Amino acid sequence: MGKSISGFSKLSKQKKIEWIIDTYFPNNDDAAKIIKQYWNDDKLLQKLHDEFIENTITNYYLPFGVAPNFLINDKLYAIPMAIEESSVVAAASKSAKFWLERGGFKAKIISTTKIGQVHFLFNGSYERLNAFFKSTKLKLINDAKPITKNMDKRGGGILDIELRDKTKDLKNYYQLHATFETLDAMGANFINSCLEQFASTFKHEAEAYKDFTPEEKNIDVIMSILSNYVPDCLVRAEVNCPVSSLNEDKNLTADEFANKFLQAVKIAEVEPYRAVTHNKGVMNGVDAVVLATGNDFRAVEAGVHAFAARSGKYSSLTHVKIENGNFYFWIELPLALGTVGGLTNLHPLVKLALEMLHHPTSRELMQIVAVAGLAQNFAAIRSLVTTGIQEGHMKMHLMNILNQFHANEAEKTAIIDHFKNNVVTHSAVVEAINELRSRN
Ligand code: MEV
Repeated sequence: MGKSISGFSKLSKQKKIEWIIDTYFPNNDDAAKIIKQYWNDDKLLQKLHDEFIENTITNYYLPFGVAPNFLINDKLYAIPMAIEESSVVAAASKSAKFWLERGGFKAKIISTTKIGQVHFLFNGSYERLNAFFKSTKLKLINDAKPITKNMDKRGGGILDIELRDKTKDLKNYYQLHATFETLDAMGANFINSCLEQFASTFKHEAEAYKDFTPEEKNIDVIMSILSNYVPDCLVRAEVNCPVSSLNEDKNLTADEFANKFLQAVKIAEVEPYRAVTHNKGVMNGVDAVVLATGNDFRAVEAGVHAFAARSGKYSSLTHVKIENGNFYFWIELPLALGTVGGLTNLHPLVKLALEMLHHPTSRELMQIVAVAGLAQNFAAIRSLVTTGIQEGHMKMHLMNILNQFHANEAEKTAIIDHFKNNVVTHSAVVEAINELRSRN
């Protein structure tokens, strides 16, 4: 049974662990050992990780892998990926190699505008509210100058603020809808600070606005927060080649392959059940790079899926066309990413990942991430329409099963060899391990 506690966050790390062990693992002699096994020997490095969040008791490792051979806009990259799913890095690498031999990936930024909103209730005349907004807009921007000064100097900052009437959706509901350019920062703190300043100025000025009735002076600010939906912070990545160069599969001609691939993407465009899985595959690549580079994958996920549903029906993030004997495959993704600030200046592995990517600007990182998503999707569709996904997946999964059974190196070699010519299933692997062990 669980137990509640007050003041947990004030306990030392050791005391927190003791409480957790006493409460939840009284009979598990390994629990404390497992928790401590994941601590870093370097005390300073461990302290850094402890302080990323509250109540840290240990570290949670994810594999940090590398997919080399990505040619993006004629520049070569090895892409760092943090992910636990066994087949993802292998699939990205395979895709990178395939397109390296066909001119590589082309990527470009379409736009980089981010959005934040002050949501408020106002009970009164829209005309007077609009007149008040127009007379206050400059002050809203000026009062935020202490926050925007540095960003302004670098060429970013507040782009615009609009008053939006949302009363058709919700009684008395209006917004200050603001747009921002945050350059190489993801910009969450910058945007939220600006919005909170707008809210404070707006409310304060309304109280003194002489054309408002007493009720109108009382603007009720509900919240001020950035939006993770960034359809105007958009990147496009593409590959193309003659259909005749798609002749990789021994059982299909290049034409047959291209057409099957096209149909697979068309299905994801019209069928939401398939689109979700199709896009999940895209996000295998996207999230892994987003995470390795210290960015917020939850924000990216939320924004990308909203974008995939922007027509009112959830659909594919990638698209294909075959035209004049050429195969074109592309993706457009909304991505708010940073290469300065946040974890990017703090986490040693994130710094290493960014250095591996030639210290990209956020615009370059957007392009790299979109390419990783496109590459991942290419690999998945290619497997799906040819061998089926399980062949590759189960080969990668084989190692996980072997590790579950604590196979030693000799056993691993023998069993991997055995499955070069046999179908991998969980039960077949278990059987093979048992048989091998019974022989020795
Ligand atoms: C598995 O993580 C991802 C796939 O299901 C994606 C897809 O079906 O396109 C293979």
